Amino acid sequence: MKMEKRKWYAAYGLALCSIAILPVSCGRMPEHHEGTDIRIGVTVYDQYDTFVSQLMETFKAYAREKADETGVAINIEMYNASGAQPTQNSQVEEMLEDGCDVVCVNLVDRTEPATIIDMAEKFDVPIIFFNRELVAEDLERWEQLYYVGANAFESGILEGEIAADAFLGNPAADKNGDGVCQYIVLEGEAGHQDPIVRTEYSVNTLVEKGVKVEKLGHAIANWSRAQAQTKMVQLLNEFGNRIELILANNDDMALGAIDALKTAEVDRATWPLIVGIDGTDVGLEAVKNGEIVGTVYNDKEGQALGMINLAYTLATGGDIDKLDLKDGKYLYLPYQKVDPGDVEQYMKSHAPAL
Ligand code: GAL
Repeated sequence: MKMEKRKWYAAYGLALCSIAILPVSCGRMPEHHEGTDIRIGVTVYDQYDTFVSQLMETFKAYAREKADETGVAINIEMYNASGAQPTQNSQVEEMLEDGCDVVCVNLVDRTEPATIIDMAEKFDVPIIFFNRELVAEDLERWEQLYYVGANAFESGILEGEIAADAFLGNPAADKNGDGVCQYIVLEGEAGHQDPIVRTEYSVNTLVEKGVKVEKLGHAIANWSRAQAQTKMVQLLNEFGNRIELILANNDDMALGAIDALKTAEVDRATWPLIVGIDGTDVGLEAVKNGEIVGTVYNDKEGQALGMINLAYTLATGGDIDKLDLKDGKYLYLPYQKVDPGDVEQYMKSHAPAL
């Protein structure tokens, strides 16, 4: 990177981390391409998002494994957009000018991919969008655009199933005994595909499973544990012990709700049922200790492996037909239900060690 640019980036407080993942000799014969190297650029919407940061750690672990397998040095440039789309646009420009062979983008604003797509087309460099899905029309704007993620509606359905089983299987969960489940929802960001779809499908599934429901309230907490705690304090002030179920759009917000219950010294026996999504390390720990009744595993290993395989194939001119992408562009990894019975198996990381 040119020195003037480094200074510019430092001045704007942009975090850049660059790692070269060199193949190590560990007895395995590299596949091919020995002696070549590839450069992958990555920008995330917010490096402090728990799920996204765990996804990136897993991505780096699989990149190391890929480098070892193939004998190809993989250079990764990683940026944090800190929630600003213009910042992310500049980062992509920087990565393209730096000669990245492929750029992976976790969009800040999923409705604003146009600048990035236009630049990528100009430089003729493929883009893999991930985790924050753009609309199909945008992905159609150029043939070298891809998406890796998961189908949000599946996570909503599975969350609804966990909640329904917990409510119907436990008469004490209906605290006021009125035969109706009084619930609240802790939602991720406004305008993101996951919160809208997760909320709708989890509630619909509860109803389909035979649970009568009454929505007491909801709050947007931007995927954040701290914001969820603050919002939960307000919801507790308003609804108190009437809340029987908390549907959280992710584990971090479920944990924020728990933080509020603990701070308010709510008797553990009267806590509402709490369900999350993601299966982050802290989320799985909370399932194990019984604080949340279950979570829905957002397959970070499958997504990270899918991204590195796709990035590698694109960067080395391989055959992407072998990757079995939906419509030649999409890779969706399935979600899975996690309950206290099988949580241990999810706690053992499936990813190779860094
Ligand atoms: C979701 C995940 C959330 C948050 C969000 C960011 O898939 O469940 O916890 O990371 O992505 O886009």
